[in-house]
Amino acid sequence: MIKKELKIAYTEYDSEKELPEEQQELLKKARAASDLAYAPYSNFYVGAALLLENGVVVTGNNQENVAFPSGLCAERVAIYAAGAQYPDVPISVIAITCKSKQFHVGEPLSPCGACRQAMSEYEMRHNKNIRIILAGETGKIHIFDSIADILPFMFKSEQLKKK
Ligand code: THU
Repeated sequence: MIKKELKIAYTEYDSEKELPEEQQELLKKARAASDLAYAPYSNFYVGAALLLENGVVVTGNNQENVAFPSGLCAERVAIYAAGAQYPDVPISVIAITCKSKQFHVGEPLSPCGACRQAMSEYEMRHNKNIRIILAGETGKIHIFDSIADILPFMFKSEQLKKK
């Protein structure tokens, strides 16, 4: 028996103002997208902005439904929109942020497992790492250089193949 350890590297910024200009701009677009979320049931507004390699920015926000499971998270709304409109263009950066009408979010959003899996599919499909910027309303910002970093031991297509 061996006990193993996994290390994940990420960058932490104390505030949004410390980010490089291009990343601040993308985060602003994610914030603008969160303002347009449809979240009457949770009052939790999430916005995602994806920068594609061709310079186009695709945004998305959470879309809730009275039949709760029928709603969709911001990240998947955005990533599927990118996949539908620009299937051949890799994504370089994804910025995600959130805010609540009921409390202050002072820490970075932590994307749900299903969205991590959906974002990782895009990364594998184009064989190109996607940088991910995670922010709350205020507070620290976390940046990972790849979706794989936030989804260790992910389910991969090789596991579908017979060996
Ligand atoms: N939500 C997202 O949009 N992204 C996440 O990563 C976590 C949760 C949404 C789903 C739902 O509309 C609301 O936030 C509360 O869970």
